[in-house]
Amino acid sequence: MKQQLQKIEQEFKKAIDGVGDVLKLDEVYQRFFSRKSGEMTQIMKNLKELSGEARKELGSLANEVKTNLEEIYGSKKQDLEHAGWDRIAVEEQIDVTEPKLPPKRKGHLHPMTIVHNELEDLFTSMGFMVLDGPELESDYYAFEALNIPKTHPARESMDTFYVKGKPSWVMRPHTSPVQIRAMQKYGAPLRTVVSGRVFRNEATDASHEHTFYQMEGLVVDKDISISNLIGTMQELLQGVLKKDVEVRLRPGYFPFVEPGFELDMKCLVCSGTGCGACKHSGWVETVPCGLIHPRVIKAGGLDPKVWTGFAFGLGSMRLAMQKYGIEDIRHLHAGNMEFLEQF
Ligand code: DAH
Repeated sequence: MKQQLQKIEQEFKKAIDGVGDVLKLDEVYQRFFSRKSGEMTQIMKNLKELSGEARKELGSLANEVKTNLEEIYGSKKQDLEHAGWDRIAVEEQIDVTEPKLPPKRKGHLHPMTIVHNELEDLFTSMGFMVLDGPELESDYYAFEALNIPKTHPARESMDTFYVKGKPSWVMRPHTSPVQIRAMQKYGAPLRTVVSGRVFRNEATDASHEHTFYQMEGLVVDKDISISNLIGTMQELLQGVLKKDVEVRLRPGYFPFVEPGFELDMKCLVCSGTGCGACKHSGWVETVPCGLIHPRVIKAGGLDPKVWTGFAFGLGSMRLAMQKYGIEDIRHLHAGNMEFLEQF
């Protein structure tokens, strides 16, 4: 039995020397130590049949060999595992110090939605209602009720899409028709904003789109003056752009206001030196506005001798361009993920 033990020890060491991975190592281990048929297990079982001194002597020798072999197995296993990790680190170039990538965002709001949400929050905080109106509008609400009769030249500047076979329907070229709808529905006093899509038969360029967004504002009350209008416009621009902006007021003509103004702001994209976003003038027409024409108040079903008001029609895509420094309006509808993921 002594010789048997020596033989096992030698064979075990030899077998382990030739092993190159943990799986093979375990196969060798099983060959010697498996419960049923392991060569070493067999010897331990045979010990029980011996008696007296021989059992004691061979028993302690067998235990010594067993512990020794198990130690050899343990340290070989550790070596192989370390070598495995080193190999993976080299072959697959895992840098365990590299910071984890942030999770990809699953979705987020479009910059125009962000701007409209901010505008609506701002105006609701000042007591305005948020209203909606139809995109397919009647000629009456789009023009007639806004003091733009059929023959009026102002119709030309609107580049309207008319609907084939339905001469009295148009894709609304502005959000102003909702002024009339709001007065008819809610009467006065009234404070409301309307954000939505409008359509024009435009040749597109860096500052023009055929489909774009406006936010209409309307205040009807007693004794409304131009200072109410200017104060509200300042509140609007500072609230959305969150910086001081330089503005200028010019006379502007719109048949539904009297007097009418163009409120321009110094271009924030180029700081006034001229770029595509400001048509190279340094100034951006931001908010056309004015005091509501008495005929419009009348079309809204109210008495112009009692009620006054102001209105404005903000080009919200242009405002978004100023807010985010976007040099071309067409980016906003292009559906380019590289552009959109910046917001
Ligand atoms: N609806 C006009 C347009 O799209 C803009 C406008 C001008 C709206 C003056 C207003 C206003 O409410 O008072 O060109």
